[in-house]
Amino acid sequence: MTKKILITGGAGFIGSHVVRRFVNNYPRYQIVNLDLLTYAGNLENLKDIEQKPNYTFVKGDIADADFIQSLFAEHNFDGVIHLAAESHVDRSIMNPLEFVMTNVIGTVNLLNASRRLLESKPDFLFYHISTDEVYGSLGKEGFFTEETRYDPRSPYSASKASSDHLVRAYHHTYKMPVVISNCSNNYGPNQFPEKLIPLALYNMLQNKPVPVYGKGENIRDWLYVEDHAVAIDLIYHKGTTGETYNIGGHNEWRNIDLIKFLCSVMDRKLNRPTGSCEKLITFVKDRAGHDLRYAIDASKVKNELGWMPSLQFEEGLEKTVDWYLNNTEWLKHVTSGEYKNYYDSQYHKR
Ligand code: NAD
Ligand code: DAU
Repeated sequence: MTKKILITGGAGFIGSHVVRRFVNNYPRYQIVNLDLLTYAGNLENLKDIEQKPNYTFVKGDIADADFIQSLFAEHNFDGVIHLAAESHVDRSIMNPLEFVMTNVIGTVNLLNASRRLLESKPDFLFYHISTDEVYGSLGKEGFFTEETRYDPRSPYSASKASSDHLVRAYHHTYKMPVVISNCSNNYGPNQFPEKLIPLALYNMLQNKPVPVYGKGENIRDWLYVEDHAVAIDLIYHKGTTGETYNIGGHNEWRNIDLIKFLCSVMDRKLNRPTGSCEKLITFVKDRAGHDLRYAIDASKVKNELGWMPSLQFEEGLEKTVDWYLNNTEWLKHVTSGEYKNYYDSQYHKR
């Protein structure tokens, strides 16, 4: 069946893997990738598919209501997969308003434009991609389920929680067909080197200090990005309207253990003496309000849709390291602009 699907944030980390999957696997779909190309968006991530006849890129800001209305007037979308967001917690601590503009206002603009399509498109679907951070922080035990009460604690997670609530409100109030998924930490190719794994890897490559916040005892549940893209594909096609699905890797690591493991992989790949990269580990001031632990119970998506992560962490990390070592030009490009300014000034402006 032909469909025209809008994917927002498709030039970013996860979005680029989702766009590639949909363009390649569904040649009868028309995929429109809408992205503002902020510091985190890079069309080099999609070089291999940009000439495909079922792919179109549009540059634009989801926070611009007029622009979004005109885009929806031009394209008769059958569905939206919404990934565009400001995504980095540390940046949200420095500039919360930017996160409200993109993550909250941007989502409302897309919901409003989608609402107008409902009468003519009863099968329309608005799929909102969200995060496990909306559930707050866990102690040593337990997992986030779809029933866990929302308790966002950073400006980033508060903006994502707000957008989740708005998506549910449009479902309840206007009967908009929606689905939401909340995923744990992703890693893999194309991730901007400000997040833990690519930043540490990038600094190890350059023999620079590898910052570990606090004592490195915080725990995250890591998932290879292509496994997330597979889950998104399944949920888009087979998920139940109005439902939420948690997605996670069953793969918890303390930050310090993960970084030490990455050090051992990098020593091997770079032919450095054992222990070289570990010497770069530098404990730095903790993140304000740092959530202790995230861990997802992904049994609903497993039981209802048959999704499971396909890669062991060791395999996924190996693939990730190989990708970064083979794509040093990409690293050079993405770190040459805003990123450098941000780290120089510790402040980011659009
Ligand atoms: P990212 O920062 O790598 O990419 C975000 C993309 O959105 C970029 O291409 C950027 O240019 C675009 N964008 C930002 N502001 C925009 C705007 N105003 N208008 C249009 N485009 C804009 O983010 P990511 O890590 O790929 O995350 C994608 C989505 O998945 C986000 O909604 C995030 O909250 C969610 N998520 C991420 C993770 C993770 O571990 N990275 C985990 C769970 C959920
Ligand atoms: O859980 C899903 C979320 O995961 C997504 O919604 C976010 O978009 C994504 O950025 C990620 O958030 P985190 O804050 O968990 O990811 P980050 O890579 O920034 O940090 C991972 C852990 O590592 C966290 O405990 C903070 C720590 N850290 C991070 C950086 C950048 C360090 O110790 N040193 C660092 O330099």
